[in-house]
Amino acid sequence: MSRHQEQTGSRAPSGGATRDEDLTGHLPVLASIWAQDQRGVLGTGTGMLWNVPADFAHFRRETRGCPVIMGRASWEALGGALPERTNIVITTRHDYVAEGAHVVTSLEESVDLGMRVAEETGAPTVWITGGARVYSDAMDLVQELVVTYLDLDAVAARGRSGRVVHAPQIDPLVWRPDPELTDADWRPVSGDARWRVTTWIRR
Ligand SMILES: NC(=O)c1ccc[n+]([C@@H]2O[C@H](COP(=O)([O-])OP(=O)(O)OC[C@H]3O[C@@H](n4cnc5c(N)ncnc54)[C@H](OP(=O)(O)O)[C@@H]3O)[C@@H](O)[C@H]2O)c1
Repeated sequence: MSRHQEQTGSRAPSGGATRDEDLTGHLPVLASIWAQDQRGVLGTGTGMLWNVPADFAHFRRETRGCPVIMGRASWEALGGALPERTNIVITTRHDYVAEGAHVVTSLEESVDLGMRVAEETGAPTVWITGGARVYSDAMDLVQELVVTYLDLDAVAARGRSGRVVHAPQIDPLVWRPDPELTDADWRPVSGDARWRVTTWIRR
């Protein structure tokens, strides 16, 4: 098993292949990871709209041991630091306190810090973990998008109205699925929905 797999678990959504990396003098990858419903909805702005435990386990496996970068709203939605990861929170509030996390005031600063930590610790990836604003702002910076598609219309399922936030559009002229790290089929229902993962890489 590679160090990458030990740290982040298997990256083999479909065909059983895993991404093996030579971590000698490695350069960490900057990547985004999110889950969206059929309409591209990510959440309410202050919380989640579904419970899909197997996808959460996937998120945990992927990000474990790596720096994670999130906006202040997502940090508050989490309610505490993600364990076994360097948590980095972005806010404009210079006096903001986030227990168990580093607080920075720009996306660039968060990426610089994440990269430094990953280089020091040998983490293969610096993850952008939300929310909508940060995913959108990071689209030009990231090398990879690990997207979980949920077979669920979360707003209709909850019969609720009100604010929702959406995932960024993925331009097929810019991004293509990595066949080694993309599910060919749906994974079984977990909690509220069946789900599948597509890993998008740049063309
Ligand atoms: N489905 C998923 O995979 C997933 C993953 C993560 C989050 N979410 C959901 O996403 C929602 C939150 O998303 P969101 O777009 O509302 O908020 P967000 O992106 O989490 O946070 C936005 C806040 O982060 C700070 N921020 C972001 N970029 C900044 C920059 N360049 N410079 C300085 N500060 C910056 C600002 O905080 P200040 O206002 O403090 O300045 C801004 O108000 C929640 O519902 C959460 O549950 C879903």
